[in-house]
Amino acid sequence: MHNDIKEVLFTEKQINDRVEEMGKQISRDYEGKELLLIGILKGSVPFMADLLKKISIHCNMDFMAVSSYGDSTETSGVVRILKDLDHEIKGKEVLIIEDIIDSGYTLKYLVNYLKSRNPNSVEIACLLDKPDRREANTEVKYLGFKVPNYFLVGYGLDYAERYRNLPYVGVLKEEIYVNK
Ligand code: IMP
Ligand code: MG
Repeated sequence: MHNDIKEVLFTEKQINDRVEEMGKQISRDYEGKELLLIGILKGSVPFMADLLKKISIHCNMDFMAVSSYGDSTETSGVVRILKDLDHEIKGKEVLIIEDIIDSGYTLKYLVNYLKSRNPNSVEIACLLDKPDRREANTEVKYLGFKVPNYFLVGYGLDYAERYRNLPYVGVLKEEIYVNK
């Protein structure tokens, strides 16, 4: 598995330190409130699990699953809900937890969808951002790292459902996905 990685962009330690800072910031910003974290399956799982433990105020969690790429490395711009929320979000402080923002279509769609259910607020916490690829305008309030336009795997990010269990974020060797 590790042989398929061209370069490690963020080590486990770098990610952990950044996630800790994000957790502190979120805890300060929502002090005195109760937060609902909505994890976007499956890529956000490692990030959500680590971030959750760095948040020092009361919080709940829920999950959604949406389709984005299938098994390809290019976005389709079409978003489909595969799993909806378990609970009402009316009047709640919602924080969407996502692994990476690329074209921005997924998060833009999700923000609009969640806002239509009348929460008190909706913000985004996202580990990685590829700003060069943005097509849909979406504001990420809590961002881990900006990244160049490479296809990345690890720490939740997959290629054809593999590599999510790598403890770091790395660049996938092109020979793994070109001509597949
Ligand atoms: P967007 O709608 O184009 O912003 O797509 C966001 C989704 O695409 C993320 O939740 C990821 O599932 C996937 N994605 C975008 N870039 C990468 C990448 O470099 N590696 C793995 N998945 C990616
Ligand atoms: Mg995803």
